[in-house]
Amino acid sequence: MHVVVTGSSGRLGRSVVAGLLAHGHRVTGLDRAPAAPDGPAPGAVAETYAEHHLDLRDAAALDALLAELRPDAVVHLAAIAVPFSAPELEILGTNTALAYTVCAAADRAGIARTLVASSPTVLGYTLPAWRPRSLPLDEAHPIAPAHAYALSKAVLEEEVRMFARTSPHVFGSFRPCYVISPEEWAGAPTQQGHTVLERLRDPALAAVSLFNYVDARDAADFVDVWLRADPAAIDGECFFVGAADALAVEPVASLWREHAPALGEAADALGPGAPVFSIAKAERMLGWRPTRTWRTELPNARAASATAPTSTSTSTQTKTKTPTQTPEERAARS
Ligand SMILES: NC(=O)c1ccc[n+]([C@@H]2O[C@H](COP(=O)([O-])OP(=O)(O)OC[C@H]3O[C@@H](n4cnc5c(N)ncnc54)[C@H](O)[C@@H]3O)[C@@H](O)[C@H]2O)c1
Repeated sequence: MHVVVTGSSGRLGRSVVAGLLAHGHRVTGLDRAPAAPDGPAPGAVAETYAEHHLDLRDAAALDALLAELRPDAVVHLAAIAVPFSAPELEILGTNTALAYTVCAAADRAGIARTLVASSPTVLGYTLPAWRPRSLPLDEAHPIAPAHAYALSKAVLEEEVRMFARTSPHVFGSFRPCYVISPEEWAGAPTQQGHTVLERLRDPALAAVSLFNYVDARDAADFVDVWLRADPAAIDGECFFVGAADALAVEPVASLWREHAPALGEAADALGPGAPVFSIAKAERMLGWRPTRTWRTELPNARAASATAPTSTSTSTQTKTKTPTQTPEERAARS
């Protein structure tokens, strides 16, 4: 299959490109920026990979490119991907315009299927007053965006459902959890600036996203499975894409009182290692299941964590808003 990946130079994009190439697809990356300074995705060779640089809000340029490329599918990842990393209106406008422009162009070009990246933050769990309706959190859980990034993803999911309703082509979305790339397992800083090991050592760091995460290669495998799925199983559907466990050395049941009190006593029923976010829908409907966890990628993390200094930081889940809290501190990634 020939797959266009937008945001191909990004954190998730590079792994999705590498994963799709490994699964035998031909890939064209579209991004405003050239591939990351350390080069294009692993496995990218001229026979199966090319990239074009453009601002994807330019609908005419995108139309011309898709007419020339005639791909079988589009995977849309390009976005302002970090809450509060730009003015709120800019995040809302950019992300919703990007998603609409790409979906509309894919529809006009007659591309068979388009998959768009949303985010678990649509649920609104960054607000201290938020409470889950039930655990684990699944796709049926009500959304309640609490900042422009989450709102942009909520709107984007509705845009995708509109195209699914009105177009003869297939449109769907997915909510990747906190993405961890191979380099980050190896010690590079994650999207929030700290390492994975630091996130495991200090539960307050992972608590802001309710301990969710996904290996970027597992997310790429999900994309491959989605691209091959029965259209009836994916058209208009949204899927959580996370690891099968929580990013925490201790069970969430032992951590929530101190670090994520919003979860409440329902968290006591989460089994040892069980994640707060359910991936049962993707498993049931698509047969996808992640194969990596922090336990396979950082086998010595448990011992390292036991010798780590005691945490002094505090989860944003435990705080009420105060003037000293920056937007970034209130923002949960993924
Ligand atoms: N990384 C995560 O943990 C995570 C979690 C949940 C959802 N997501 C979503 O997954 C997607 C990818 O995230 P990421 O972490 O790889 O982000 P990233 O910031 O690393 O990459 C985004 C890419 O989009 C490109 N881009 C932005 N605006 C563009 C434009 N107007 N035209 C062309 N290219 C443009 C950027 O140049 C960048 O390469 C985003 O939609 C993000 O919201 C990511």
